[in-house]
Amino acid sequence: SPRCADDCASAAATAGRDVAIGGAAAKSSLGLAAAAFVASLSSFQFGYATGILNVPQRIITTDLGLDKDSISWAVVVSIWALGGLLGAQVAAVVADSRGRRPLLALSGLTCGTSGLVAFCAGTASLAAGPESVGGRSALCLLVLSRFISGGGCGMATVAAPLYLGEIATTETRGALGSLAQLSVVVAIVVAQGLAALITHHLGLHWRLVLGLPAFIGAAQLALLPLLPETPRYLLSRGLAQGGEARGEARGEARGEARGEAREALRLLRPRGGQASEAVEAELAALEQELGAGAGGGGRRGVLLLWRDSPSLRLPLLNAAAMMVGQQLSGINAVFYYSTTFFSSAGLDSPVAGTLLASAVNVLAMLASSAMMECAGRRRLLLPLGSISAVGIGGMFLSSVGVTAALIGKARASAHHEDDWSLNWLSVSFVLCFVIAFELGPGPIPWQIGAEIFPEHARAAAMSAAAALNWVCNAAVGLGFPAMSSALGSLVFLPFAAVLLLWLLFTARFTPETRGRSVDEIQVEFRRLAALGSRKPARAEGDGVPLSSIRQPQG
Ligand code: GLC
Repeated sequence: SPRCADDCASAAATAGRDVAIGGAAAKSSLGLAAAAFVASLSSFQFGYATGILNVPQRIITTDLGLDKDSISWAVVVSIWALGGLLGAQVAAVVADSRGRRPLLALSGLTCGTSGLVAFCAGTASLAAGPESVGGRSALCLLVLSRFISGGGCGMATVAAPLYLGEIATTETRGALGSLAQLSVVVAIVVAQGLAALITHHLGLHWRLVLGLPAFIGAAQLALLPLLPETPRYLLSRGLAQGGEARGEARGEARGEARGEAREALRLLRPRGGQASEAVEAELAALEQELGAGAGGGGRRGVLLLWRDSPSLRLPLLNAAAMMVGQQLSGINAVFYYSTTFFSSAGLDSPVAGTLLASAVNVLAMLASSAMMECAGRRRLLLPLGSISAVGIGGMFLSSVGVTAALIGKARASAHHEDDWSLNWLSVSFVLCFVIAFELGPGPIPWQIGAEIFPEHARAAAMSAAAALNWVCNAAVGLGFPAMSSALGSLVFLPFAAVLLLWLLFTARFTPETRGRSVDEIQVEFRRLAALGSRKPARAEGDGVPLSSIRQPQG
């Protein structure tokens, strides 16, 4: 029966993959490291654009003759997220029709262009006074550059995790996936550090820091031609082209795709020893896996996937919950408004506080990258089960802690007292919040999309999830100042409520993905869905019997 054939194909794919993993393909290689580095430059652009306005905000608004709370400045800040939303949408189309590598290139080109436009905006503001025509055109150019930057970063949020997830072996998937977020956090600290150095210490013009993405974009465009396309994309394109062709042409299309995928694998996997056997085994496993998933019905938008593929609904819900949870956890309230927060918490140097939060962010992310493969994704989100000290639970506890400290501080100032220990307590809870975020809820939502969706659904699902992330990012960025004046000391409580809901959802509906193939993860999702609906775990078209799921160790 077709189902039986699917079972066999998937089981063979799993077995083939194990052969490949047992051989040289399990190890990482120089080619893989180089490809991962170049791809992660896209994430660097995203992080740089996230962090760049925090420190020089006051200098830029003064130069442009704006109030930092003015509508014009709100447009400068929020237009970035609008660009991101559009960029994430474009990403799925480019990734599926042209490939993952062209998407990386387009993202680099767009971010690079935004750097050039920002540099021109700075030059225009330097040449003109704030109220002059030149000053207004500087503002328009700055808005334009933030919009273009958003577009490039929106593409980057899909391109980098997708590319990294598809070039990795099952063993290196966790480490490579977390590289995207590692680049984001390093870039945030670089952006803030450079801005503090160039604008505050050296007294140089802000166009130099806002223009830097032009150089990174040029480096991306120069290096990207050296990268291979992902073997998965090449094979699946060959399968699709072969499906449309007839007779000999069908075989030719598939043969050509196999040749290209083999070349890509050779560049990405270690040489020498039994390298070519390992490449052949990995190629065969990939072909079987993609062949088994070919019944997915071709590439479709996310709404059609939801309607036509019941087995993809829980993975889609997971991707959505992760993105909404990540952003509505309030993390960017910290990253966008830390300088204001630290100054109201009584820190002598709020900029130093912001840099400290970003440095702590990098350290926590390094720890997370090191643990991603040995601890697994679920355990980094929920380390001690539902009540955990790091991960989502840690963020929840920290947000309750910040609230308690802020309430204490408000009471103290009502009695005209300034209790420095409460100031430090609130700052420490914010740092704990950041550490808990970066250990799991920061990197995992971005990387899990490449693990839980089959090839035909991956780009569409990841791009829809990224778009949702951008919408929620904008909501927090724009809404936090109003929320803060409306709720006062209780401003972190809505975030705590979201974190609690996310924690419950993850505990119930998110499977471990470490060390499992896409097929195995799909089966696990069906098991989780069946637990809720009390239906048997095997739905129509299911590929792998439950018994074939390998339990991750540890
Ligand atoms: C994640 C979030 C992003 C946030 C960053 C902070 O990448 O998606 O919005 O600014 O982490 O490290």
